[in-house]
Amino acid sequence: MPQATAGDRAGKPSLLRQMCAVRPVDVAENAGKSRLKQVLGPWALISIGLGATIGTGIFVLTGQVAATQTGPAITLSLLIAAFGSMLAALCYSEFAAFLPVPGSAYRYTYATLGEALAWFIGWNLLLEYAISASTVAVSWSAYVVNLLTDAGIHLPDALVNAPLGLDAHDHLMRTGAFINVPAVLIVLAMTWVLYVGVRESASANTFMVTLKVVIILVVVVAGLKFIQPANFHPYVPPNTGKFGHFGPSGVLQGAGIIFFSYVGFDTASTMALEAKNPQRDLPLGILGALAISAVLYVAMSTVLLGMVPYHQLNVAAPVAVALDAHPQLAWLAWPVKLGVIAGMTSVILTSLLGQPRILLSMADDGLLPNVMAKCHPRYKTPHVSTVITGVFAAAIAGVFPLDVLADLVSIGILLAFGVVCLGVLVLRYTRPDVHRPFRVPAAPVTCILGFLVCCGLTLTLSNGTWNRLLVWTILGMSIYALYGFRNSRLRPK
Ligand code: ALA
Repeated sequence: MPQATAGDRAGKPSLLRQMCAVRPVDVAENAGKSRLKQVLGPWALISIGLGATIGTGIFVLTGQVAATQTGPAITLSLLIAAFGSMLAALCYSEFAAFLPVPGSAYRYTYATLGEALAWFIGWNLLLEYAISASTVAVSWSAYVVNLLTDAGIHLPDALVNAPLGLDAHDHLMRTGAFINVPAVLIVLAMTWVLYVGVRESASANTFMVTLKVVIILVVVVAGLKFIQPANFHPYVPPNTGKFGHFGPSGVLQGAGIIFFSYVGFDTASTMALEAKNPQRDLPLGILGALAISAVLYVAMSTVLLGMVPYHQLNVAAPVAVALDAHPQLAWLAWPVKLGVIAGMTSVILTSLLGQPRILLSMADDGLLPNVMAKCHPRYKTPHVSTVITGVFAAAIAGVFPLDVLADLVSIGILLAFGVVCLGVLVLRYTRPDVHRPFRVPAAPVTCILGFLVCCGLTLTLSNGTWNRLLVWTILGMSIYALYGFRNSRLRPK
């Protein structure tokens, strides 16, 4: 805690003290409950987590990272990323069980590490939800365009690609395209579904989750007998002389990038006010979604890398390439592409579902305008923040390419997860009295390790990604300084 300053002695808290103000955990947290419907049980919560998690990461990035960073050792990168995610998931679960509020990591940080850091986390959660929806919409667009091309329908390149891309030096440049129309349209369509209601969107999500899990299992089972052991040698190809290009550094950088595939497992935590029994079911939703997706990822990537040499997988649809390489499996190509599109649709839907609930929480605290906390009187959804999120995510999806967005999401969320691990530790010391329905096993070791692994993985990401995170953070902190800080409910009026 900051020491008293001259400002404090004069009666007005110092700037630092105000920025570090903690919002206690025992204030009436469930004020928003009557605004929303409590309809979600444990399976619906796991399904929401899986809906937000399994998508672009496993269906696209796994192949691309294997081809450019890790080779067959992508499975190792996936396991390292899963290890960091699991430590964070345990910490999330402790918070979610005793503080079941929609603000998720933002609210946990507000209760432990203070307002400014809570804002930083809330701002980074925008990456996890809104921007991750945009990221997946970009690869959704690529798959849909690919499917339409198969059917003989050709859309103009300028209308299905991002106008911005990366040059050889990792700087943004113009590509000549105008806007990625399918990416914009899918985000707007999902926003409309969410506007109408949670029960409806939960059912649509469960259907799409089932489809994508079945698709993964079918590919794994069908692909097993086409695995050629030679494709796994060398398991870690030698480094090319550049950090992150194969070798051990490639495996580590690969883990930082492929971490994107686990982003979203914690989405259940944002549904706290809509859960029937949040204290029991939120940890189940978070840990269940992570465990199921990790097992599916490792199985799927092992089969994929066994079916074709890794250097053939740097394409927009790696799974289709692996199937095409074996004529006996050609019949699977179309159903798999359709399943992948459905799977990505559910990621977009559930990511857009989480974001408005965080905005609602921040608006309740005065850090964002009050209008964002409004809920629709009939649909009982946070309709204003849903529309704001949708329009913002659609605009980003229309303009930026996949790699820029995915890396930015990964770095932002890794930092947010690191802070959550730290927060659990802080609260164990500052509020040992609070009843914790779920406790992180082997704390404080688990929390410290979680912090180190998550923050350590950010260090493997490129300088360009760090620069973009810096711009994102400066933007966020400026909004905090100009609006959030002045209007916080914790400020003396
Ligand atoms: N984890 C999500 C995906 O891979 C964001 O699509």
